Amino acid sequence: MPAACGARADLEEGSLIYSFGGGPAKPAFSLARSLTMRSISPTAAAIVKSTAPIIERQGVAITTAMYARLFQDAAIKSLFDMAAQESGEQPRRLAAAILAYAKNIDKLENLGPAVQRMVTRHVQTGVQADHYPAVAAALLPAIRDVLGDEVATDEVLAAWGEAYWMLADILIAAESAAYGQIAR
Ligand code: HEM
Repeated sequence: MPAACGARADLEEGSLIYSFGGGPAKPAFSLARSLTMRSISPTAAAIVKSTAPIIERQGVAITTAMYARLFQDAAIKSLFDMAAQESGEQPRRLAAAILAYAKNIDKLENLGPAVQRMVTRHVQTGVQADHYPAVAAALLPAIRDVLGDEVATDEVLAAWGEAYWMLADILIAAESAAYGQIAR
């Protein structure tokens, strides 16, 4: 059962309902989490959490390097507001989100409003599930570009890979639900 991430989980009609923030009566953010969604092992979660101080110092360098890799794909680049890139605002936003994620990897319920903002912005800009592998393929090497392979060891990158896909699955499911509501 994918409970390692620490979000509140209740089994309801064969799916897991994760609530982020708020009480059970009025969660700030909740979604049906299917049993096929990826999770993170306790060991990988501990590694990710231990990298938080490094992300705090180097997060913006990592996200800047990530966008440089990501924008080699012109179709993906066209989704982004370039003014927010050039001012450094979007690399700072993403670095802050990654840091908050590293710190809260074992208590995802703290991330409700932040996850909701990402979902809203992703739906506004037309982000799709099939964009997520390209972001993983830009982010993980960018971590190594900036930190070097003595800090960003294979084990650290594998842990961040697990963390990435756990959050990606949460975002993809929430975005798919939001697109479904728009289409109705
Ligand atoms: C786990 C993966 C991801 C995380 C953690 C993430 C995080 C974020 C955050 C924190 C923001 C800023 C939200 C705000 O306005 O406060 C954002 C915006 C955005 N994200 Fe993501 N994102 C992820 C995946 C993706 C993917 C796969 C794409 C598609 C290529 C994407 C495209 C965008 C775009 C286009 C924006 C708006 C940026 C702008 O205004 O220029 N994101 N994302």
